[in-house]
Amino acid sequence: MIVIVGGTPLGGEIRASGAKNAALPAILASLLTSEPVVLHNVPRLLDVETAVELIRALGKEARWEGNTLNLWGGEHLAWEAPAELVQRMRASFLVLGPLLARLGRARVPLPGGCALGPRPVDLHLHGLARLGAHLALADGGVFAEAQHLHGACVYLDFPSVGATEQLLFAGALAQGETTVVNPAREPEVADLVELLRKMGAQVIWHTERLTIRGQRELGGAEHTLIPDRIETGTYLLAGAITGGRVRVQSAQPQHLAALGDRLILAGCELEQGEDWLEVRGPVRPKPVDLRTWPYPGFPTDLQPPMVAFLARAEGRSTVTETVYAARFGHVEPLIQMGAKIQVAGSIQVVEGVERLRPAQVEATDIRAGAALVLAALAADGVSFVAAEQHLSRGYEDMLGKLGALGAKVWREEG
Ligand code: EPZ
Repeated sequence: MIVIVGGTPLGGEIRASGAKNAALPAILASLLTSEPVVLHNVPRLLDVETAVELIRALGKEARWEGNTLNLWGGEHLAWEAPAELVQRMRASFLVLGPLLARLGRARVPLPGGCALGPRPVDLHLHGLARLGAHLALADGGVFAEAQHLHGACVYLDFPSVGATEQLLFAGALAQGETTVVNPAREPEVADLVELLRKMGAQVIWHTERLTIRGQRELGGAEHTLIPDRIETGTYLLAGAITGGRVRVQSAQPQHLAALGDRLILAGCELEQGEDWLEVRGPVRPKPVDLRTWPYPGFPTDLQPPMVAFLARAEGRSTVTETVYAARFGHVEPLIQMGAKIQVAGSIQVVEGVERLRPAQVEATDIRAGAALVLAALAADGVSFVAAEQHLSRGYEDMLGKLGALGAKVWREEG
């Protein structure tokens, strides 16, 4: 349980950690080679530890040195991914592409659904089938076989981050060229492309299509991960919601243009430099309308924290979620804290209130947890947020960073 004494503006400076959603595919990319891969700026998060556990179970060696992760070995990989690990974290499904590319066969359990609504992997499977994989669904998992993966042109009817990454993995060792039409353009995908290029992959990226020319094998590499734009945005919103002044160092401002635009519309002052952003929150936000959208649109992962911020606005905001079918786990707990939110289809209508009230609330996923922490920081009094197991999956040392900004937060058992 996290205890938060809210009501005081945050102030100060923190450093962004490496991006969780760049670290996970980068760790799995090491399955494509048995040569050493060294990753720097890797956040120490539960999901990252799960990814390391997963590749170790498949035959890789891994050793931490602070935030540097050394990966090597895996001359002989197992072709079955342990169900327990894949169920724990959806991104584990990305081992399918590398195992298929290296071994010609793989069995990977289907990822569990989660609080964001149904999360199919049909685009992953469609793409792998186009590259020549034979896929069979049985016992809650996918069994895939491909004597030789061959390049193909794959159209994604949604620019899925995971499906794009899955196809980069499979295409990296396929015979010929694989082109993904309508790929995801998230910075984390671009970071994976950089790593794959350092490993010897030949990738050409135009806006609407991504082409990877298959190699016989890939080599080792050393790579520093990009900073976490969702973590950065979360702390900027923590400064904004409390009417404080927060600077995030080691960030990449250009990754947060959509959030910056809406923060300014809401009455925040925003400054930025080469590798930092600083926000000064208003006494009360102005209402704004927004819709989430694939990058460079407003990131769906910042939708729940943004709704918490708008819950205090002086007027009505509408927030439309276009990426997930149901990303509203934060709504009920925010209403318990005094927010006035109505959900109509994919739209949240937020009638701003002057004050949120402290409460005991529970989160359903990483970003809903972040939204509740932000609301508790703004509420005058003591709140109890049950979100530890979610927050530690996605935010490195969140209590330490909030404490550095002057927040009165601590962990209590129970
Ligand atoms: C990645 O998930 C991120 N996770 C998510 O962050 C993020 O919310 C999401 O991209 C969107 O930006 C990682 O990178 C590890 P998608 P992913 O495939 O790859 C549908 C967080 O909190 N879809 O782009 O699973 C899907 O149902 C997490 O850090 C299909 O229909 O996202 C969803 O509605 C949460 N079929 C939409 O596309 C498919 O085969 C976006 O999914 C695949 C996806």
